[in-house]
Amino acid sequence: MNVHLAYQPTPKQALFHQSTADELLYGGAAGGGKSKAIVMEALIDALEHPGIHSYLFRRSYPELQDTLLKEALSSVPAELGHYVSQRHDYLLVNGSVLHFRFCRNLQDAYCYQGTEMHRLYIDELTHFTQETYDYLKTRVRTANMPGIRPRIRCTSNPGGVGHGWVKALFIDGKQPFQIYSETVYSSVLGHSAAVTRQYIPATLKDNPYIGREYAFQLEQKPEALRKALLLGDWNVFDGQVFTEFRSECRADRRYTHVIPAFRIPKGWRRYRSFDWGYSRPFSVGYWAEDEDGRLYRYAEIYGSPKDPHTRLTRKPNTGMRLSPEQTAAMIRQYENRYEKGQHIIGIADPAIFDESRGSDGCVAKVFERYGIYFEKGDHERIAGKMQLHNRFAFDEDGFPMLYVFDCCRDFIRTIPSLVYDSCFVEDIDTGGEDHIYDETRYMCMFRPILQPVKQNCPASAGQFLRDEPPAAAPWLVSGG
Ligand SMILES: Nc1ncnc2c1ncn2[C@@H]1O[C@H](COP(=O)(O)OP(=O)(O)OP(=O)(O)O)[C@@H](O)[C@H]1O
Ligand SMILES: [Mg+2]
Repeated sequence: MNVHLAYQPTPKQALFHQSTADELLYGGAAGGGKSKAIVMEALIDALEHPGIHSYLFRRSYPELQDTLLKEALSSVPAELGHYVSQRHDYLLVNGSVLHFRFCRNLQDAYCYQGTEMHRLYIDELTHFTQETYDYLKTRVRTANMPGIRPRIRCTSNPGGVGHGWVKALFIDGKQPFQIYSETVYSSVLGHSAAVTRQYIPATLKDNPYIGREYAFQLEQKPEALRKALLLGDWNVFDGQVFTEFRSECRADRRYTHVIPAFRIPKGWRRYRSFDWGYSRPFSVGYWAEDEDGRLYRYAEIYGSPKDPHTRLTRKPNTGMRLSPEQTAAMIRQYENRYEKGQHIIGIADPAIFDESRGSDGCVAKVFERYGIYFEKGDHERIAGKMQLHNRFAFDEDGFPMLYVFDCCRDFIRTIPSLVYDSCFVEDIDTGGEDHIYDETRYMCMFRPILQPVKQNCPASAGQFLRDEPPAAAPWLVSGG
């Protein structure tokens, strides 16, 4: 049978089709032709491999219908297959099947427990949590298809609850187009295997099939949305909570929050903020406070598995599954080495004082046995978020009230990736990697400041000192 497929890929789409990587992200600007490419890739690949079962996912069924399904229905010639709407399956004439599916969360992903997916395609990957992605990946195997290597192909715009982990997995520290290999060890098989990954950036200019008026429409959008959708900029995106956070490390400390490390002067107060986690990372932040009440995050211990060479987080939002004892011992070891003789005030997630959570007392009690003491942090979520905004704000000379040393890499990675919750629109989406955010919130609520006033008065620096108020300072936050 000789059937003409009316599809002329753009050069970027051609690269997407030619990729040999195991996992591929085609992402960036809106309208670049990503969804078209993923549908055509699934179709062409399924035609080349008779009997293959390919799964194409979007987060919700309406989204699936408006994008991938719509694209497939208009692209697959009737001679090549037909769509069975009750099952959402496209049956191709060679026995291959394109399964169109939605997956809102991990619960939905568990529905595929017994499924063997030969190919996994996900459109808008940042709408998925990493747990969901990881679970779906476990379904990808080609045991009954000898000679065929399983493949994962994803597309995405920046933004969404998965922005942080997608950026960390495919983009941060990597060159676009280049294929990177990561060695994964299997304790069951007793040996390692290489997994390859690639990122192909999409831009609107790639796609000659889209009207020019669309580009002009995007030009009118607010800056964050414009940069993300028009330019495919992964550093800012719509829905991002801390758009004011600047991560460029600057020695002059102006208009940034990230600065080179320096020795903490004697006499500055020190704090330790803590968020407990087991299957998710725990987080410990070390803070120093200068005479103006400015906070410096000078060290952190983040409970996620690290790459042995780079010491960077290897699996975002994944915990080390350490017991309270093991976590306390790790903190004790760190403080014995680096904080000897220092008085540190601890503030922690109030949940660690909950007696009902452990058989041998609450987490806080376990920590006390290691000489690590905490006060209960203030869990007021919206007020806590405002405290971060207040501290991130620059005064008229460009100085914020909170700095982070450039060695605190998980803070710098996770804070910009936080997004607003779609239901509780004032708060952040707790499905994201928010553990450092939480302990930072407890820290900031312990030393609250007023929103800096953009004028040349002392209040512009946001001073406060809750327990040592200078006399008659009207900008002080009282109580608490
Ligand atoms: N090679 C092509 N041939 C014909 N039409 C194409 C091609 N590539 C993309 N298009 C069309 O361009 C439009 C935008 O493409 P598509 O929806 O795939 O972009 P996208 O990158 O997924 O956009 P978004 O970021 O909004 O999801 C669609 O109408 C699609 O059919
Ligand atoms: Mg799309």
